[in-house]
Amino acid sequence: MDNLMIRGGRPLTGEVWLPAAKNSVLPIIAASILTEEDVVIHNCPLLSDITGMLDIIRSLGGRAELKDNTLWINNRDVRSACVSNALTGGIRSSIFILGPILGRLRTAEVSYPGGCEIGLRPIDLHLGGLRALGVRINEEGGMIRCDGGNIRGGIVNLDFPSVGATENIMMAAVLAEGRTVIRNAAREPEIVDLQGFINRLGGRVHGAGSSLITIDGVKKLSGGEYLPLADRIAAGTYLTACAACGGDVTVHGIYAETISAVTEKLARTGCELREFDDRIRIRATGKPKAVSKIETQVYPGFPTDMQAQFGALLAAADGVSIVVENIFENRFKYTVQLGMMGANITVKDRTAVIRGVKRLKGAQVCAEDLRGGAALVLAGLAAEGETTVRNARHIDRGYQNIETVFRALGADIQRK
Ligand code: EPZ
Repeated sequence: MDNLMIRGGRPLTGEVWLPAAKNSVLPIIAASILTEEDVVIHNCPLLSDITGMLDIIRSLGGRAELKDNTLWINNRDVRSACVSNALTGGIRSSIFILGPILGRLRTAEVSYPGGCEIGLRPIDLHLGGLRALGVRINEEGGMIRCDGGNIRGGIVNLDFPSVGATENIMMAAVLAEGRTVIRNAAREPEIVDLQGFINRLGGRVHGAGSSLITIDGVKKLSGGEYLPLADRIAAGTYLTACAACGGDVTVHGIYAETISAVTEKLARTGCELREFDDRIRIRATGKPKAVSKIETQVYPGFPTDMQAQFGALLAAADGVSIVVENIFENRFKYTVQLGMMGANITVKDRTAVIRGVKRLKGAQVCAEDLRGGAALVLAGLAAEGETTVRNARHIDRGYQNIETVFRALGADIQRK
């Protein structure tokens, strides 16, 4: 059941309702460690990255239950500050645990979360930020041991606006005495979401969404319920799929502002987009036009998490497009798989030159990472003939039942 079989060439029509953003829910699950009270998260998708994080919570003594997209967590009994290798090796976002555990227990021990398919994923900015809050850190034998006995508010200057480092430092500061200032903070909407969640529980975080975030430490957090933002990358994926296949699709629950860098580029391919308060409608007919250049940037620039999906669209566009990946060092692996479907893409360092072909042809391809796997599904939906996307488990990390969503839009796609 780890393969997706697709018969391409059908237009996509219909409506999609989005789940909460994976990249909001993961740090929010970590932040729930900061309180001993009940936390309820609504519209939570069933994704392997999320179940992985819940396993980590349980390994620390917490309790969690995800039922019908409602997630209940209680971390009253969290006592352990040691996150085992077996659990962290699986998912990158385990590093988010460091900040809240330190904030709650004043000590923490996690194994180095390994790199992943898209890059080395260093954590120097996370550790440097925690040290600025007075945390003593010893890195030895693949373990990170932290003594947060003297944790207090401090000034953190991030050399790069890292999403994870911004979130980790924010969470570590919530229960630390005094004021913390994070300069050159990442500005992604998921960070605004994390601020919203923490403040819902009684935290005092301000400025998320800008480069300057302040956190005034409080003694304790209460419990609470929270509805995270919709998944803007899932939204961008479904809109881009319609651009590639043709059709008429409405994606519900999305704030257009959060993916304006993507919709602006979709419009340049010749699609017609209409933005409403909480939904976006796309209509696409005929062959997409090439886009002269796409460069991934930190928010609000073009998101790196949409680079592969857009590359799949441009592979059969009319003309030559240039894609530059500025955020991760290894995010073009999908282009080799697209080449097996007839795409004409040359990659040098961080730049891909995509010469649009008349039509992609179905083939046996292999997902190697989350967004690259999604790109192969989009390519298969638009291609002529049959495509098998193997290792669909990579895709399940970020999309709940992707085949069900596309089947509801008229695609011929089965999981085998
Ligand atoms: C988050 O990863 C997202 N993951 C990623 O989404 C997303 O691609 C990324 O932000 C950028 O938007 C989650 O939120 C769970 P970063 P994160 O720290 O926090 C370098 C997906 O597909 N860096 O902003 O790891 C790093 O190597 C995933 O949903 C350091 O050098 O991203 C990278 O080049 C993939 N030192 C750049 O910063 C550090 O200490 C951006 O990383 C930390 C990061």
